[in-house]
Order: sequence, then C-alpha cells, then structure tokens
Amino acid sequence: MKTILTGIRSNSALTLGNYLGALLPMVRLANKHSDEYQINIFVPDLHSIISDVDGDLQKNIIRTIKYYLAAGLKLNENVHIYRQSHIPAHSELCWILDCVATMGETSRMIQYKEKSKGQESCNVGIFNYPILMAADILLYDAEYIPLGEDQFQHIELTRNLAMRFNHRFGAEIFTVPVSTAEQVKFMGVSDGIRIRDLLNPEKKMSKSTVAENSKIMLDDEPAKAAKKIMSATTDSIGKIKFDMWGQPGISNLLQIEALVTDAPLQDVIATWAGQTRYGDLKKKVAESVSEMLTIFQAELAKISDERVYELLEDGEEYANRVANAKLLEAQRAFGLR
Ligand code: TYM
Repeated sequence: MKTILTGIRSNSALTLGNYLGALLPMVRLANKHSDEYQINIFVPDLHSIISDVDGDLQKNIIRTIKYYLAAGLKLNENVHIYRQSHIPAHSELCWILDCVATMGETSRMIQYKEKSKGQESCNVGIFNYPILMAADILLYDAEYIPLGEDQFQHIELTRNLAMRFNHRFGAEIFTVPVSTAEQVKFMGVSDGIRIRDLLNPEKKMSKSTVAENSKIMLDDEPAKAAKKIMSATTDSIGKIKFDMWGQPGISNLLQIEALVTDAPLQDVIATWAGQTRYGDLKKKVAESVSEMLTIFQAELAKISDERVYELLEDGEEYANRVANAKLLEAQRAFGLR
C-alpha cells in the first residue's frame, strides 16, 4: 500500500490557513483513500522547539490531534497517528541525511532565510528543519504529502535527498515522493493553497503575526471570526475577479469560501465574477466561516484526552516498527550495521 503522510506543528492554536491549507485537505484525502493507502498523521513536536511555544507544548500536541478528529477524520486500521519525538528513528535518520545534504542547498530554503534573517544567533534547528522533515517522510516511503504551498521547496529537497541517497548506494532504499505538481493534482486543488493575511493579503496568514485581525484562529469565537472577515483588506478596483497578484484580498476571500464550503474554486469564481459589491462577498464568506467554526468547535469539545492517548499508543507502535526497519536499511547502506 502507498502512503500519504502529513504533519502540523503544535506551537499554538492553529490558524484558518493551517486548517484550509493542510489539515482539511489531509482529512478529505484520508477519508477518500483510506481503503487503498496507509495514512500517517503525526505531530512534528521536534520541529516545534525550533521556536517559542505558546502555552504548554504537551497540551498543544494533544489539541492538534483533536483538530484532525474534529475536522472529520475517519479512523480505520490504515490510519495512524503518532508523535515525532516518540519515534527515535526520525532524529537518527535526520543525522544520516545531514551527511548527504549540502550546506548550499539547505541554505537556499526560503523558510530558513526568512526565519534566520541571516542572523548568526539563529538556532541550528532552524537550518536543519527541512532535513528532519525529509527524514519524517522517507522513513515511511510516503509518496503523497499534502501541505500548503509554503512547504513545497522542502518536498523538492526531500526528493533530491532520496534520489541522491539511492544513486549513491545503487539501491532503491527510499521511495521518492511525487513532484509538487503531482502533489497538487493528488490533493485535488488547482494550485498550491496559500491562505493570505486578512489585513496584508500579499503575505500568508501566519500564527506568528501579531495583529489579531490578520488571522483567524480555530478557537476564535465564530462571531469574532466573522468580524475579522468583514474588516479584511480588499482593493479599490470595484469588481470581483480571481487574480492573486492584482486583487489578493478578494481572491483570498474567494479561495476561503471555496475551501470552507467544499465547492470547486472555479464554481465560486464563476458565481461572483464581475459583481461589484465587495460587502456582499464578505458577508457570505463571514457566514460560511462562522458556520464552519461553530460545527468544528462543537466536535472538538466532544473528544477526550484519553481517546487521543489511546490512538497514540497504537499509532506509535506501528510507526516505530515501520521507521526502525527503514532506518536499518539506511544504516546498512553506510556500513553502520
Ligand atoms: P507548519 O506547522 O508550519 O504548517 C502546517 C501546515 O499548514 C500549512 N500552512 C498554510 N497553508 C495555507 N495557507 C497558509 N496561510 C498556511 N500557513 C500554514 C503549511 O503549508 C503546512 O502544510 N514543515 C511542516 C511540518 C512538518 C511536516 C513534516 C509536514 C514537519 N515534518 C513532514 C509534512 C511532512 C510545517 O510547515 O508545519
């Protein structure tokens, strides 16, 4: 069986961007394909500690898993949930891949450049982040990795490391994930998803942005979230058109509407094309988001911590088994075993 794998860091409550860009596509894919694929959903908690954690990391980890369940993830024997730090093979393979990756290619990662801003005081984990991410993926021979667009460069790096490793040892030790263009097709979206900051739609919506009205958090009161949509920045063109460069604010609202209501983006674009009243669009999106949050938060409240720990116990047993077997192959290739 092929594997679909993804993860979301648990540094804080998640934004609507994380939800629409990564969590929901994963849940929809998992529910559609869990008879034919292994579905691995994990919390990259080692990736969390590269930066400050908002609140208690342990609690955040459990809440992140609850988010998947509240978003409608259906469980069966092919769906596995685990925590990265409970599978030691991730850190071990990361070191091995560190010795395969080059400083040049790793320094070119946009996320590293943005997060480090060239400062020498930036921690080494920020630099090493994509290599650990490659280990997360390659240990499980994952081919499909549903992610937001900001992570595509890391997928390409993972592909390069897998190909280089296999070539070096003349064996297909790692499965090479499909290209980002194929990932997008598999996710069933027309392009990579990037939900924009509501006030500065040139930027992505991010947990770390200070301005409250820039982002919608999954634990926002639905009425408060609706207000944030109503105050979103648009433009002075006065005609609704999907154009991420020319009208990023309006395009963002159309994108959010399509994802929240599970409608094809093209249909939503066609419904609103040429209309002139931005207020009507905002009102509709505000209603859709507030309805979605109401249902989501009610589901979240029903899931107990005990249920999550039960799932983790099973998932981590599976993950250690699969990951250790793959790690051994990589260790043998280098002559470490
Ligand atoms: P993280 O927690 O930074 O981001 C989690 C997911 O949310 C997506 N995302 C967005 N999508 C659309 N619009 C936005 N505004 C937006 N903001 C965030 C990100 O693209 C991502 O999919 N490095 C991963 C975590 C990770 C991982 C892995 C994922 C570690 N190892 C292995 C897959 C496989 C990350 O970005 O987490």
